[in-house]
Amino acid sequence: MNNRKENTSLLIKGGHLIDPAARIDAPMDVLLKDGRVAEVAPPNKIKSADEKFDARGLIVAPGFIDLHVHLREPGQTYKETIATGTAAAAAGGFTSVCTMPNTVPVVDSVEWIEWLRQPERGAVVNVFGIAAATRASKGAALTDFRALHTAGAVAVTDDGKPILDDRIMREALILGGELNFPVVQHAEDTRMTENCSMHAGARSFRLGLRGMTAAAEASIVERDVQLAMQIPNARLHVAHLSTADALKSVRRGKRAKARVTFEVTPHHFTLTDEDMRDYDSNYKMNPPLRSASDLEAILAALADGTVDAIATDHAPHAAHEKEMEFERAAFGITGLETALALAITRLHREKRIPLARIVELFTAGPARCFDLRGRGSLVRGSVADVTIFDPKKKWTFDVAKSRSKSKNTPFDGWQLTGKVVATMVGGKIVYSA
Ligand code: DOR
Ligand code: ZN
Repeated sequence: MNNRKENTSLLIKGGHLIDPAARIDAPMDVLLKDGRVAEVAPPNKIKSADEKFDARGLIVAPGFIDLHVHLREPGQTYKETIATGTAAAAAGGFTSVCTMPNTVPVVDSVEWIEWLRQPERGAVVNVFGIAAATRASKGAALTDFRALHTAGAVAVTDDGKPILDDRIMREALILGGELNFPVVQHAEDTRMTENCSMHAGARSFRLGLRGMTAAAEASIVERDVQLAMQIPNARLHVAHLSTADALKSVRRGKRAKARVTFEVTPHHFTLTDEDMRDYDSNYKMNPPLRSASDLEAILAALADGTVDAIATDHAPHAAHEKEMEFERAAFGITGLETALALAITRLHREKRIPLARIVELFTAGPARCFDLRGRGSLVRGSVADVTIFDPKKKWTFDVAKSRSKSKNTPFDGWQLTGKVVATMVGGKIVYSA
């Protein structure tokens, strides 16, 4: 981040503050100074500031955190760069993103973790590196967790692929437990999903496509939760959980007080396999869109407090990697700029999940998953990362205007409610509508 500019104070005035970690859901003014939250007070109590931001009619929230973003650097800058991906993040209200290591080369060393953070990358929001769990994510030998942790990696994962081998996953959870380092699992038993391109169900049968069963996800989650229950201090984070069966295992682990957290994506709480237009690869991602009953189970877990975080799995791909036969097209969709609006539209307006819970899923929840200290709340002394949004604003998503380099989304042209108005990082406005 660029901290060279002179620091001035900024008063966010007249807004409604939702800060779930601080249990605040009330009209409040917020004063940002020297990159920190200097004061939070009822309306009109804070008098002086160099600059003011008029937040009347708007929700003021801690800066949103996305635990699962593919920024594609190093190596695949034709899909996305740290500069373009973080610009899309800022437009989506995210002040912090955790970037996945399935790049070219794989981010499996201290050098690459440090490289991600260099100012030359042009990030406009905070970038936290997630390192590979195994060397080159080949699943055979663990990376140097201790060195990566010390270098500032926030978690380890082989995302894009699972950590399949029982012995390697056990070792990862043991070592991660000793270091208080979360191990992020892409839960897919790839022995069961070879050549599959969507969810296994009536729809895949009709389309003549080989389908991934729910069991291919649930069996890995069940194994991992069992390990997390056995290994002292192990921290398991399940990426993009998509099935009701996997959710059952996670619920069991949480009840047993194992340190198990998980995220769900906006597309998995919005769409099912039946929504997929025929052979449209903008509906192709991994894990795939699931059944209506899986979606219902995820909605219940979002509402009842079980889900820890909403994460986008923003996975940009170039047009030439998507415009081909469905089975050959790349897995993944973009998601940074539509996440909040999908949450407000589907979860708040349709399912009546309170806004405070939705804000928690974008802030305090993810901050806890990866121990992002000083973030996820606006209590005095926190980092001055703020997301300001209008929960009532209706708008239409136009992918042609996306900040991302890639346009692979099923949500182009969707009418949504809830729009980001401003995003502030370290007290500076990095996006305003
Ligand atoms: O859809 C996906 N895209 N799932 C993954 O696990 C990887 C990701 C990517 O890197 O494109
Ligand atoms: Zn994944």
